[in-house]
Order: sequence, then structure tokens, then C-alpha cells
Amino acid sequence: MRVLVGCEFSGVVRRAFRSVGHDAWSCDLLDSADGGEHIVGDVRSVLNDGWDLAIFHPPCTDLAVSGARYFASKGDRQASALEFVRQLLAAPIPRVCLENPVSVISTKIRRPDQIIQPHQFGHPESKTTCLWLVGLPKLVPTAILEPTRWAVTPGGRRVARWDNQTLGGQNKLGPSDDRWKKRSETYLGIAQAMSQQWRADYE
Ligand SMILES: C[S@@+](CC[C@H](N)C(=O)[O-])C[C@H]1O[C@@H](n2cnc3c(N)ncnc32)[C@H](O)[C@@H]1O
Repeated sequence: MRVLVGCEFSGVVRRAFRSVGHDAWSCDLLDSADGGEHIVGDVRSVLNDGWDLAIFHPPCTDLAVSGARYFASKGDRQASALEFVRQLLAAPIPRVCLENPVSVISTKIRRPDQIIQPHQFGHPESKTTCLWLVGLPKLVPTAILEPTRWAVTPGGRRVARWDNQTLGGQNKLGPSDDRWKKRSETYLGIAQAMSQQWRADYE
């Protein structure tokens, strides 16, 4: 398949699809981090280039619910971020996945088709990740990890806890220019599940 991985500079999803034989390309306003097959530019300019599958990771800065206290000051920026998402979801590509954290996409456009966690795909972290799917089946968890610890709520309820954010203590990184890049990379286990499960012959 010809696979477009839009809004990806890391190459994680692109490499996962290439490793199982697909003609996969990433596209981002930024250069690729790994020098692989990559288009530098606005992903909207390549949507008509004959792709079989597209996976999009649009920026969540103006959409994520975790930034809700700033919504009032984000008026126009949030409207254009939502318009970007609408354009990607309406791309003339038969199979589309759009990934974002819990965000206003759910209330302003539509609810996600699936909510996944890294700990369902072999990573010890929790990071609620929403998927909006067009023409694709839900991802099947591949390696479900047990919680790394338990906590007790003030009401006495025992709740599962997983590590948060990234491996290798990256969630404890100090401020730096590329901190957001490391934190926004797609988890390898999720990328591999996409490439192994979203094949041309699953229908
Ligand atoms: C949250 S990051 C996603 C990173 C991705 N998960 C990865 O592993 O590389 C969002 C990315 O969208 C890119 N971006 C924003 N607007 C874009 C556009 N119009 N066309 C292509 N990429 C865009 C940004 O440069 C940024 O790298």
C-alpha cells in the first residue's frame, strides 16, 4: 500500500509500515529526524497523491482538553486547528486514522472511534490516546501490561496506576528546544500494531 503518515517528523510510524513492505512516507512542516522517506511541507498539499491509507498526528496544542483553561484565549487558533482536523478526516483517501489526546475534537466534530493506551501495546505508560477512524477497524491490543502500582482514592477505592509519559525518564526532561518532540513521538508498540493490523487484506 501507499501510506501517508501526516504530521510526523520522527519516522516511527513510517518505519513500522516500511518494515512490513509498504511504500510509506511521512510528511511534516519539519525535516525528518531520521533522514528517511519524508516530504517537507503542508500535508494538505499531498492529500490527493494517490494514497491507500493515511495516519495523521495533528498538533494538539490548541485542541487538548488538558489545556482547557487557555481555551478562552485560543479562539481563532482553536477554530483553525479544528478546520485542519476536518480537512484531514475528509481526505480523499479510503482509510484514515487521526490520532490526538482527549480533545475538543470529540465535542466539536465527533467522538473518537477508539481510545487506546500505551500499556495495551507493550509500554509501561498511560497516555490516553484517541483515534478517529475512517474505513479502518479498531486496533486490537497486542501486549497488555499490568499496572506498575496501585493507589487508594480518598474514598478508599483501589485504583490501577501506570507509569506516565515516556520511557527512559523522558517525562522528567528539563526544558529544552526538542523536549516536545521527544514527548510527542508515537509509541513504537502502537505504530507496530497499526502496521501489522491495518493491511490491504483485512476486509
Ligand atoms: C504532535 S506533533 C506529532 C509528532 C508525531 N507523533 C511524530 O512521531 O513525529 C505534530 C506535528 O504536526 C506538524 N504539523 C503541523 N501543521 C502541519 C501541516 N500543515 N502539515 C504537516 N505537518 C504539520 C508539526 O510540525 C508537528 O511536528
